[in-house]
Order: sequence, then C-alpha cells, then structure tokens
Amino acid sequence: MPRAASRVERIPPYLFARIDKKKAEARKRGMDLVDFSIGDPDLPTPAHIVQRMKEATENPKNHQYPSYEGMPAFRRAVAEWYMGRFGVRLDPDKEVVALIGSKEGIAHLPWVYLDDGDVALIPSPGYPVYRITTLLAGGTPYIMPLREENAFRPIFDEVPEEARRKAKICFINYPNNPTGAHADDGLYEKAIRLGRDNDILICHDAAYSEVTYDGYRARSILEFDKDKRYSIEFHSLSKTYCMTGWRIGFAVGNSEAVQNLGKLKTNIDSGVFQAIQEAGIEALTGSQESVEAMKAVFTRRRDLVIDGLDSVGIRVDKPLATFYIWARVPAGYTSSEFAETLIERIGVVVTPGAGFGDEGEGYFRISITTPEERIREAIGRMKGLTFLRKQR
Ligand SMILES: Cc1ncc(COP(=O)(O)O)c(C=O)c1O
Repeated sequence: MPRAASRVERIPPYLFARIDKKKAEARKRGMDLVDFSIGDPDLPTPAHIVQRMKEATENPKNHQYPSYEGMPAFRRAVAEWYMGRFGVRLDPDKEVVALIGSKEGIAHLPWVYLDDGDVALIPSPGYPVYRITTLLAGGTPYIMPLREENAFRPIFDEVPEEARRKAKICFINYPNNPTGAHADDGLYEKAIRLGRDNDILICHDAAYSEVTYDGYRARSILEFDKDKRYSIEFHSLSKTYCMTGWRIGFAVGNSEAVQNLGKLKTNIDSGVFQAIQEAGIEALTGSQESVEAMKAVFTRRRDLVIDGLDSVGIRVDKPLATFYIWARVPAGYTSSEFAETLIERIGVVVTPGAGFGDEGEGYFRISITTPEERIREAIGRMKGLTFLRKQR
C-alpha cells in the first residue's frame, strides 16, 4: 500500500482512544457503564418530522440527485425561520446553502479560504473539527484560549498582530461545546470589529442556538453584522430537532462566503437527499412544541447533574445552553487520569477536557444525553469515591 498523504498524517492522534479502550475493558469485566461522553440526544426525532420524511420518500422526484445548494423550498424555510427567530432577513438564493450536517460545512470552510500558511483563529477548548480541518487544508491554526475567568470567551485583543494579519478565518461557537458557555452582545460586537479591521471572515458555529434554558435566547451573529459583510453562521437541525443521524444543517450569511462554500461543495458532494430536506422544512416550519419539551427534559437533567456534582464537592455554575456540563477535575488528577479512574472504579464515563485542546486540560465534560435514572445512578456511585469526598 502507498503511504497516506502527509495531509492525513497531520491528523492528530485520536485523543479518546484510551478512553474507548478503558470502556471496552470495563464492559468485558461485566461493568454496567453510565456513559456521559456522547454528544448525541437520546430523544427520538419528533413524530411529525418522521411522518413527513416517510411521505417524502414515496415521491419519485425525491429519488433523483438533489440540487447542490439545497431545494429552493428548504432555503426559503430557512430564511423564514431566521426572520422569525432572529429578525434577520436572508436572501434564500444567495445567502443560504443546505449542508449535510453543519459539520460538513464547517469542515469545508478552511478549504475555501486557506492557502498554505494562512492562519485560522481557533478557540481552545473547542470542537476539534475547526483545528483539524484547518491543518488538512494546509492552514495554520492560531489558538485562542477560552478561560473560565473570561466566561470561556476569547479575548481577540490578545491575538498578536502577525496572527491577525495572516488570519483569513476565525471560528467562534456559542452556545459553546464543550464549556456550555454562552456569548454576550459584546463578544459578537468585538468579533465583527476583528473581522472588519483585519479582513477576517468570522465563522460562527451556532449548532446549539436552540438548546437553551431558563428563558435564555441565543443570538445570531447576523443580528450584529447587519450588512452581512464579515460573517457566516452555521446551523444544525441535529440538536434542535434530535436529528443527528439525518445529516442536515445550513450555512447563512455573507453571500460571497456562502456561494464560495457552495462552489467547493459542487465538486465534492451532491447535496442532501430531498426527502430529508422536506423533513427539514417540516422541522423548521411545523410545531416547535417538541423543542420546548426537549428543553424541559434537559433542564431537569442539568439540574440533577449540577446538584449531584455539588454533593460530591464539584461545584459548577448552571449553563444556560447546550447539553454539556464542564467541570474542574479534582486536584491531583489530569483530565485523562480522572476520566480513566471513573471508568475503572465506578463505570462512569466522562470526556477528558484535554480532548478538546490543550486549554481543556483540568476539566471534564458531562453530556446530559442520558436519562434521569442513569444520572442518579452515576451520582450515587460517585458518592462512594473517597477521593471526591475529600474535595468537599
Ligand atoms: C459545536 C458543534 N458544531 C457542530 C457540530 C456538528 O453537528 P452536525 O454536523 O450534526 O450538524 C457539533 C456536533 O456535535 C458540535 O458540537
């Protein structure tokens, strides 16, 4: 076999391999694992969306190649949803492109904008796709640390002049994976200023914009970039409508950026299965009751986890969004050691923060995509750990 291209060799080792191994070993020993590591809603896709999909698969027109950029009706549904949700008007023909999940668009964006040596500003801890696809595209990541003392928001003024000059894109993600942090208006204003002053396209990943609690409403970066000059925003139906397996999302914003992304995609994929786009239209334009119901379930789980962690001496503020709880590991442990210890001793799986970048060290992530009784079970087991009790 020939050697894989150096591009592929640049992909960093899979950081969760050790955790996966520990999980497999624990299972082999017959341990009952409570798995908090999966960022995938355990709730089913709402029935009305599934029904629309069933009907749409019967239509032979949907069996053919879809259009690359998404059906006009899907793009119109996106524009309508956007106006209703954020009060931002979008031209469905020029400012909206359908994606095979938002990951697909996020992963392709560095290929659209980065030549060898160009810089992408990337948050750490962060969704690993930003950094890895920047490397694959031949770009250079410049890491913007997200620190707890700054509410897990980047400080753009700390990015050195040279990195700013070489940067062509900047990823931000709010509500944030893995920290559960939300943005304030100032963050978006500063991001737009960064884009304007340095000719940088701000790429806002808003995959969790609808997974919010306690009355918090996340905002779109396009509410701040009114002329859509500096930004592109990625949205997903995965989390909002529990549709992770369906693979549908969209990008909106600056028309040149949206169309450049579309141009790249015409040479790579052939669009989203039209029946899935029809289901997407149903999701965006139909009843939103399921979203409220999902948020109620996640709110209860969030509170259970936060109270449970508190009872074992790990204190965390309640996140207002996402289904992630980001907590400090107990003193004396790295995030991987802590995660491995939990699996070995009590069969509880959490994600070590270091897997989301160097700045994630010292933290672990709990995903609340696990039913309440399993959360109670895990907390009960954690109470038995003497090294946690010592934290109190
Ligand atoms: C921050 C963030 N962005 C994007 C995605 C991708 O979602 P999808 O490709 O399912 O739309 C995820 C998935 O976990 C995520 O956590």
